[in-house]
Amino acid sequence: MDQARINTIRAIYKQHFKEEPASIVVAPGRINLIGEHTDYSEGFVLPVAIDRDVAILFSPRQDGFVAVYSVDFDEFYQTQLSHFEKQKTSWIDYLQGIIWALSDDGYPLKGWQGVVSGNIPIGAGLSSSAALEIAIGKTFILSSNISIDPTNLALIALKAERDWIGLNVGIMDQLISADAKTNHAMLLDCKTLNYEFVPIPENVSFIIMDTTTRRELTHSAYNTRHKEIQEVTRLLNVNSLREASQSDLDAMQTVIPEILYKRAKHVISENSRVLQFVHAMRNHDLLSMGKLINESHASLRDDYEVSSDALNLIVDLANNQSCCFGARLMGAGFGGCALALVSQGEELGFIQEVHSAYQDEAGIAPCLFIVKSATGVHTHNLKKNN
Ligand code: GLA
Repeated sequence: MDQARINTIRAIYKQHFKEEPASIVVAPGRINLIGEHTDYSEGFVLPVAIDRDVAILFSPRQDGFVAVYSVDFDEFYQTQLSHFEKQKTSWIDYLQGIIWALSDDGYPLKGWQGVVSGNIPIGAGLSSSAALEIAIGKTFILSSNISIDPTNLALIALKAERDWIGLNVGIMDQLISADAKTNHAMLLDCKTLNYEFVPIPENVSFIIMDTTTRRELTHSAYNTRHKEIQEVTRLLNVNSLREASQSDLDAMQTVIPEILYKRAKHVISENSRVLQFVHAMRNHDLLSMGKLINESHASLRDDYEVSSDALNLIVDLANNQSCCFGARLMGAGFGGCALALVSQGEELGFIQEVHSAYQDEAGIAPCLFIVKSATGVHTHNLKKNN
């Protein structure tokens, strides 16, 4: 995180709390190379943390209160840890969700005061909410002097997201924000929660292509997909889709409604693409990586039906560029961002071409930018006068 941003947030902290903050916590957003909508059926995912994050500058408090100012929402919220009314405002809901999940798991919490500020586009599929949850969780770990390992921190954030916020997500976003490694993707097995790090090959750049479209009902559409997966899992008589193969699915095709057949087909084929992609990554085979990414997009578009006209357009425009290995929608879908894999050194020309072609055809300006890999949530003390 650059010093200018730290200084800006620090000045805001001093203005609100009339003192210097003690520490800073930084939790990254993420891209997902491949393995979309597979985490909540115990599948494989391959996220990379990025150099966009949520930062909290804070000092511990001893009076059982938490007091936070959000720069992005220009809103201040203060509450006792032992008692609060549920709030609908998204960022406060996440703060309350983490307090609730930690307390419910029996952790003795102490308060803090802080300023939170992020630079991850919100609702774009880059996990701004998971980064917020992990940053808040880590701040409580430090202020309360408790010890929680990255997997358990991610599980606490997941509990907050599912049982407090009400969104039936998988664990990918929380775990990559909690324990990412620079220059590596995380191959995560969502059944065992084991993960290994796969080096990112040289010569490839990751470009975010934000369509700048957002869909209001993303949350309910996401929960609908979750329900459909539960239903087809039940029909196939397995514990999770991870246990089913394409031939198991085909054998049941006549008794499974077509829509559920397509949902399961996506998940089963996507899990296999993740493993093929990792193999290609280890062999520095950028062409195969690109081909798998394109197949992933087609499957999300046609079988999982979470794409949109804007996403399909920007993915097609990206693939028109010869320096693009492949592109696909990313995150929950329905709007937001796509990811393109582009030959290193060709990024700026690619961004210009896709930007102007998208603007011409869609009539709105997209937002394209390069992302670099980053480390998981981390902290450092702030020196008195830097
Ligand atoms: C959102 C969820 C993740 C995952 C993706 C789709 O980002 O938070 O758990 O399901 O959508 O792959």
